[in-house]
Amino acid sequence: MSGKWKVLVVDDEMIVRESLVDWFMKSGYDVEGAEGGRLALEMVDKKDYDFIFLDIKMPEVDGFEVLDYVKVNCPQSMVVMITAYGSIETAVDAMKRGASDYLTKPFEPGDLACLLERLLQQKRILDENAILREQVACRVRCEDLIGASHCMQQLFELIERIATFDSPVLLRGETGTGKELVAKAIHATSERSAGPFIPINCGAFTETLLESELFGHESGAFTGARRAKKGRLEMAEGGTLFLDEVGEIPLKMQIDLLRVLQEKSFHRVGGITVIPIDFRLICATNRDLAKEIERGAFRQDFYYRLNVIEIEIPPLRARIDDIPVLAQHFLERIRQETNKPVTGINQQAINALKKYPWPGNVRELENAVERAVVLAQGHYLSKDDFAFLFRSSAQDIPQSLRENEKQHIERILNLYGWNISKAAEALEISRVTLHSKIRHYHLSAASNRTAGSQG
Ligand SMILES: Nc1ncnc2c1ncn2[C@@H]1O[C@H](COP(=O)(O)OP(=O)(O)OP(=O)(O)O)[C@@H](O)[C@H]1O
Ligand SMILES: [Mg+2]
Repeated sequence: MSGKWKVLVVDDEMIVRESLVDWFMKSGYDVEGAEGGRLALEMVDKKDYDFIFLDIKMPEVDGFEVLDYVKVNCPQSMVVMITAYGSIETAVDAMKRGASDYLTKPFEPGDLACLLERLLQQKRILDENAILREQVACRVRCEDLIGASHCMQQLFELIERIATFDSPVLLRGETGTGKELVAKAIHATSERSAGPFIPINCGAFTETLLESELFGHESGAFTGARRAKKGRLEMAEGGTLFLDEVGEIPLKMQIDLLRVLQEKSFHRVGGITVIPIDFRLICATNRDLAKEIERGAFRQDFYYRLNVIEIEIPPLRARIDDIPVLAQHFLERIRQETNKPVTGINQQAINALKKYPWPGNVRELENAVERAVVLAQGHYLSKDDFAFLFRSSAQDIPQSLRENEKQHIERILNLYGWNISKAAEALEISRVTLHSKIRHYHLSAASNRTAGSQG
């Protein structure tokens, strides 16, 4: 807010009007007076007032009429009704119709000061909210993909530019940066949007299972394969296949997939029928595939086939301008889900969130907002509601090695949304070891949520 607050005082009683104007002038406001409703209507058409003090009983055009007009035509102005002592009901009525507060005649300068303090606080919150909502509204593109930063704007443009091409896309980025969401957005903008979007997490299966998940199998192809089953390749017909964690695909299967991409056909495990297919491929990885190629864990020819269009999604800490809009977006979604009357996040909290490094990126921000909303006492989230992010004082550090290990594992699991492969990789232990530690420490995604909501 730059400059002075703009105030309009509307009252047909000269003494009241002038004493109010006088008070506002002395207190540093940009104030004007109007001696009747009709003049007030003309004035609000010409200028945006922050506050309008409005007498209820006036000849010709009364306060209610002006109030209704203001609510429709200048909703950003806050209206305070001026009412005679003893007609509180009318004032309450006015508040139901959208007035922010009321002032009873006769009043003391002290009453006015208190009232204004209240109003200014409300005004700041409303303004912040309006700005955030506006930003959110104009940034929503391609499903729920949101971003206000320069790099996200570039990403939106890129998505639109590549929409009509069918070339494979490789998405790179840290965990939680939104790779899957971007993949969906690319699909939704493409000419295949009417077709299916079929994701598969290549890190979540053993080699044999991954093969049958991707290619499907004929009945009797292996022990346990009683019925024939369609694979994801077939399911993606006419749409988009999203290979998540493509770096996890075993070398042998990379050769098979390369052949599928070249020949646009395949056969199921244990089958001989050649099935033609037509899909667009989008892959994602948080690994450095060039390094994987160097150490012989990824095929160069397969890589060249995948990265025709390569998109790097920067970590959240490198695009902090996205933090306010993302936080507000998540807040609104969670408010709708929980019905909790939390409407916004104050500036101090936003500033603190901008300084936090977000190792789990947007997913971590989403979880943090959810936790803050669930635990919040007030209508507005403050920095204190996010204290769990910044806590690291000595008394919070568990003293025993056992407790430290437990908490660390829990934190990493939450960070990766309980994705065992990723958490195990980050912890540099095997999935089997991680599973045994989860059992040993009785960890579970559900118990963590409960613990979180108890503070
Ligand atoms: N720009 C964004 N706008 C709105 N929501 C987002 C955005 N980016 C990420 N999210 C949300 O953050 C969460 C994580 O995103 P997503 O699953 O796409 O990340 P990812 O990069 O695939 O992570 P991982 O590597 O761990 O699989 C999701 O709930 C997603 O909806
Ligand atoms: Mg993902």
